[in-house]
Amino acid sequence: MNFHIPQGHTVAIVGSSGAGKSTLARLLFRFYDVSKGNITIDGTDIRHITQQSLRAITGIVPQDTVLFNDTIYYNIAYGNPNATAADISEAAKKAEIYDFIQNLPDTFNTRVGERGLKLSGGEKQRVAIARTLLKKPIFFIFDEATSALDTKTEKLIQENLLRISKNKTTLIIAHRLSTIVHANTIIVLDKGTIVEQGNHSELMDKNGAYARMWQRQQAEDGTISYTSST
Ligand SMILES: Nc1ncnc2c1ncn2[C@@H]1O[C@H](COP(=O)(O)OP(=O)(O)O)[C@@H](O)[C@H]1O
Ligand SMILES: [Mg+2]
Repeated sequence: MNFHIPQGHTVAIVGSSGAGKSTLARLLFRFYDVSKGNITIDGTDIRHITQQSLRAITGIVPQDTVLFNDTIYYNIAYGNPNATAADISEAAKKAEIYDFIQNLPDTFNTRVGERGLKLSGGEKQRVAIARTLLKKPIFFIFDEATSALDTKTEKLIQENLLRISKNKTTLIIAHRLSTIVHANTIIVLDKGTIVEQGNHSELMDKNGAYARMWQRQQAEDGTISYTSST
């Protein structure tokens, strides 16, 4: 696998479950290191950058967010120890979770329970997004960050994320292709290798794996309509 993300660009990774998308995100964040080849940032091998400094510049919203058994406030504030209460409210608004929090009896002081179990999957994802936005990183990684949300909330967050990640180097791993049509480059992964690469219209013209995925999802959107409460 070989690709380059120019500074300020958004690269999307798509592909079936098990293709290796999350592995890529974990390698970038140095949850583990590559055993062959290398990953560089501005020409420097990330194995030569301390995990601490790499993680200081990178904001990752992982596929499965685990929250701390503490308050919602604490869980968002974790993204930036210097943040003020106003910054935290602003991040919550951008992550479309502010109104939900305001309607809880203890608002921001509500405890989320062990691993965040008192929140739904979609609520946890939004807390994780707020945390990452608060961090104001140089480099964003979103790993199916809105997968547990209903399409309406997803769309609202996507609009905010688009504004925030504009001119920021961003890697988006997505299931719903409608959320990544704007990406500068879309990479289609299959069994750990790149099978297609290009922007949305280039890949549609190619009429290959991406175009087939797109057509399948459009057909599904047309036939299934339900609203999720997450
Ligand atoms: N730490 C690991 N060690 C070995 N295999 C792994 C590890 N993490 C994931 N895998 C395997 O690698 C493949 C890709 O996983 P993953 O990157 O999570 O896929 P995706 O995010 O595209 O669904 C899967 O077959 C998975 O079981
Ligand atoms: Mg994954």
